[in-house]
Amino acid sequence: MKLTAMLRAFGGMLLIACLAFTLSACEGEEGPEGPQGPAGPQGPQGEQGEKGDPGTDGEDGEAGTAGCVQCHDVSATVKAIAVQYEASKHGSGMTFERNGTSCAPCHTHQGFVEVLETGQGSTAASIMNPAPVNCRTCHNIHVNYDQSDYSLATSDPVTMFTGETYDMGSSNLCANCHQPRSADLPEIDGPDFEVTSVRFGPHHGPQSSLLIGASLIKLPGSVSYSSMNSHENVDDGCLTCHMAEAYGAQSGGHTFSMGYDYHGHTVGNTAGCESCHGEIEDFDINGAVTEIEGYLAQLKALLEAEGCLDEEGYAVPGTYGANLAAALWNYRYIALEDRSMGIHNPRLVKAVLQNSIEAVQ
Ligand code: HEC
Ligand code: HEC
Ligand code: HEC
Ligand code: HEC
Ligand code: HEC
Ligand code: HEC
Repeated sequence: MKLTAMLRAFGGMLLIACLAFTLSACEGEEGPEGPQGPAGPQGPQGEQGEKGDPGTDGEDGEAGTAGCVQCHDVSATVKAIAVQYEASKHGSGMTFERNGTSCAPCHTHQGFVEVLETGQGSTAASIMNPAPVNCRTCHNIHVNYDQSDYSLATSDPVTMFTGETYDMGSSNLCANCHQPRSADLPEIDGPDFEVTSVRFGPHHGPQSSLLIGASLIKLPGSVSYSSMNSHENVDDGCLTCHMAEAYGAQSGGHTFSMGYDYHGHTVGNTAGCESCHGEIEDFDINGAVTEIEGYLAQLKALLEAEGCLDEEGYAVPGTYGANLAAALWNYRYIALEDRSMGIHNPRLVKAVLQNSIEAVQ
């Protein structure tokens, strides 16, 4: 036996001896794990289970676009409304750059949505990237993705800044914005009154106010004011007249406009009046509009002569007799801010104007 072989045999014996004796006698470091052994042979296949009953066919799932098609279909409804809307003052002329905290609630989409949520009179901050009032401002577009998205963002009664409540059906939506902005009736009780602003009077958009007969100064005079609200029973207020059957994209529907051009002259859209007034040619029912226009012209001349109204219709700041200041308020409200020629509240407007004229004379 060669020496090396002897040594190897001896080493082997030593290792066996070590394993045979106590482990503590052979405390070497543990070696690395050996490679995994080959897989054992596969066992026999089990018996096949019984075949199950075939399931019933599931219902067809909705196509991914089914919700969308309710509105984005081949019919022209959305298109027609969108075209009307673009032609409206809301859609075209919207003063939506007025994005400051006290203006944004009525002049921007985001501001309106925010104050509906918070119930505050102004937004927390100026609105960045202001969007004009649009489909999503008045409806809940792309919320449920079905027809319910056309429901109105709000139709709750509105407590106006001036304290009165406006409650005329779906048009409550409009009254949120078309109300005078914190222009309380001035206390005209002394002999004189100081007019401090060129915008003296309720502004802007006091239409809801006039419709319910608020914010006018009822000067005493020969015409009595009792039960004068002609249009208080127009169920949906503004909508009944302003959103009547559309005339192209000029009037009615989502143009919100009351007049259209026909061969070069303006025609009033009477579609919304006819349920109560029957078939009419124009808005001048019983000559009421002509009469109101006459009073407005007369009052304007008187106020200008007294020096409290300038040619552009602004108030001239100064101290005036109480009656004169009240008449100035009423004139600016009816003629320049409301701008319905008294139609929003014809009988009351007639009475207020007649008594205002008397008071100034
Ligand atoms: C309740 C009706 C309604 C449903 C349902 C609806 N949409 Fe709209 N969608 C609108 C209106 C309204 C507009 C805005 C049109 C306008 O501004 O002129 C609009 C606009 C859009 C636009 C243009 C970009 C934008 O946001 O203004 C896209 C894209 C669109 N919708 C996709 C869809 C898809 C996709 C679905 C389904 C998952 C869907 N819509 C479901 C009503 C609807
Ligand atoms: C979010 C506020 C808001 C709501 C809600 C709103 N409006 Fe307006 N509306 C405005 C503003 C602001 C203007 C002026 C836009 C301009 O001149 O740039 C305006 C303009 C108008 C005009 C055009 C006035 C003109 O000079 O020709 C009419 C009419 C009108 N609105 C009617 C309505 C009716 C009806 C409703 C309800 C269906 C309504 N508005 C809802 C803010 C609103
Ligand atoms: C409560 C809602 C409301 C608030 C708040 C409001 N506005 Fe308006 N504003 C309107 C409405 C509604 C109209 C359109 C009235 C109309 O056409 O009769 C309007 C019209 C205007 C116009 C156009 C008037 C014109 O003579 O052409 C200007 C400018 C304007 N607002 C500026 C402002 C500014 C600036 C603020 C903030 C300091 C403000 N508004 C806050 C509702 C509001
Ligand atoms: C200033 C608010 C306002 C804006 C902006 C507005 N709508 Fe409307 N919309 C209304 C009112 C109010 C109604 C009538 C609801 C009622 O009769 O109760 C209406 C009705 C509708 C209807 C009929 C819903 C039904 O169930 O019959 C559709 C469709 C519609 N609007 C689509 C649009 C689209 C599309 C846009 C944008 C291009 C838009 N609206 C913008 C106020 C608005
Ligand atoms: C009884 C019908 C009727 C009701 C209700 C009504 N309006 Fe009018 N409105 C008119 C008529 C008619 C005019 C005058 C249009 C003209 O001669 O130019 C007018 C004028 C206006 C104007 C002046 C600008 C324009 O379009 O000529 C605004 C803004 C306005 N209305 C908003 C409203 C709002 C907001 C409401 C609801 C709070 C409302 N109206 C309720 C019939 C009505
Ligand atoms: C819901 C019904 C109703 C609707 C809709 C309606 N009105 Fe009237 N209107 C009345 C009532 C009621 C009177 C009061 C009659 C009276 O005082 O003798 C009145 C009075 C008037 C007057 C005064 C008439 C007078 O003799 O002094 C005018 C002007 C007028 N309405 C215009 C309109 C116009 C314009 C429309 C449509 C844009 C309209 N109305 C829509 C019910 C309505």
